[in-house]
Amino acid sequence: MYLEISNLRKKFGSFTALSGVNLAVEKDEFISLLGPSGSGKSTLLRLIAGLEQPTEGRILIDGEDVTRLPPYKRGIAMVFQDFLLFPHMTVRENLNFPLRMLKMSAAEREERIDWCCGILSLTELKDRYPNQLSGGQQQRVALGRGLVCRPKVLLLDEPLANLDRELRRDMEIEIRRYQVQLGIPFVYVTHNQEEALSMSDRIAVVNKGGIEDFADKSTIYSHPKTRFIAQFVGRSNVFTGPVLTSPSGGKSIEWQGIQVPLGPNASVGSPESATAYIKIEDTLIEADDGTPGPGKIAGKLRDVIFRGQYAEYLVNLPNGAEIVASSIDSSTRVSPGDNVLISWDVDRLDVFSDAVRP
Ligand SMILES: Nc1ncnc2c1ncn2[C@@H]1O[C@H](COP(=O)(O)OP(=O)(O)OP(=O)(O)O)[C@@H](O)[C@H]1O
Ligand SMILES: [Mg+2]
Repeated sequence: MYLEISNLRKKFGSFTALSGVNLAVEKDEFISLLGPSGSGKSTLLRLIAGLEQPTEGRILIDGEDVTRLPPYKRGIAMVFQDFLLFPHMTVRENLNFPLRMLKMSAAEREERIDWCCGILSLTELKDRYPNQLSGGQQQRVALGRGLVCRPKVLLLDEPLANLDRELRRDMEIEIRRYQVQLGIPFVYVTHNQEEALSMSDRIAVVNKGGIEDFADKSTIYSHPKTRFIAQFVGRSNVFTGPVLTSPSGGKSIEWQGIQVPLGPNASVGSPESATAYIKIEDTLIEADDGTPGPGKIAGKLRDVIFRGQYAEYLVNLPNGAEIVASSIDSSTRVSPGDNVLISWDVDRLDVFSDAVRP
């Protein structure tokens, strides 16, 4: 592994910001640290960069233990959300600045700047000042200040958060392209799941100072390992209650008076309480023709929210709860007020056992 983090802990006073993080990243990998605000993503990045010292643990880059090295000796560059460009310097001077710190010859610096501007399509803009650039162009220069040093690892802390949606999408593709071209690991911090899913090879889901799972993005999305991931990544309907077993052996969750069927392979540790999650795109809605088959839940359509590429159907159930469905057969027509049926493929339901309090 190219970047190896083992048992990394960080305390600020008595507060534990990171509790024993392990992470191993390959040389050609793009990984994201995805988690809610305050979960410890930036802290982890700052420890890797050397801007903070860990309370415990080790960081290895390309086999070398860099845990006690100062930032500039680690061969790491970091890009931040605020571009932090020097306003009184041109693009060329902004890129030249980190190279001067490395005490490179003028000829070498010129070559590096040209190389960097080539990759980032900044060649035409070299003599402009930051206030003469668009937001996306400024962000490219900020990336350039990281890349121009030819780092072994590039760390990015929410670099697109200040850009508008369309520009962000374009930049996502571009950043991924740079990573492939350079062949170095990018560690990308975000709380935006779309960003993490579109760019990364693997995603580490960070929660409360720990990593809940580190896996390829389709696993994180489709087969969440923990209930936190099931709720944080994508949108799901959630059912909690005791587990019932029918005389024929079929299991279901008794959820506020409604039986939610579970698949034959669902593993529920304790029958006293379990929680099941189904993604809204796996939740099918159809018109109720009066013959609800097995495994279908009846309700009344309250509202339809148009989301562009798909629609969300909000369904009121007799128990007072609401289910959101976004999967519908193209021939089906339903309108608010209609009686509808909700169902899903039970294999797509994720079930977690609840800890039962004594
Ligand atoms: N220097 C510090 N001193 C004390 N507490 C800190 C310090 N830096 C971070 N923390 C705390 O550590 C926790 C993790 O912070 P961190 O900045 O890593 O979160 P984050 O996941 O990057 O959040 P965000 O998405 O909001 O940027 C927070 O509770 C924060 O208040
Ligand atoms: Mg942060």
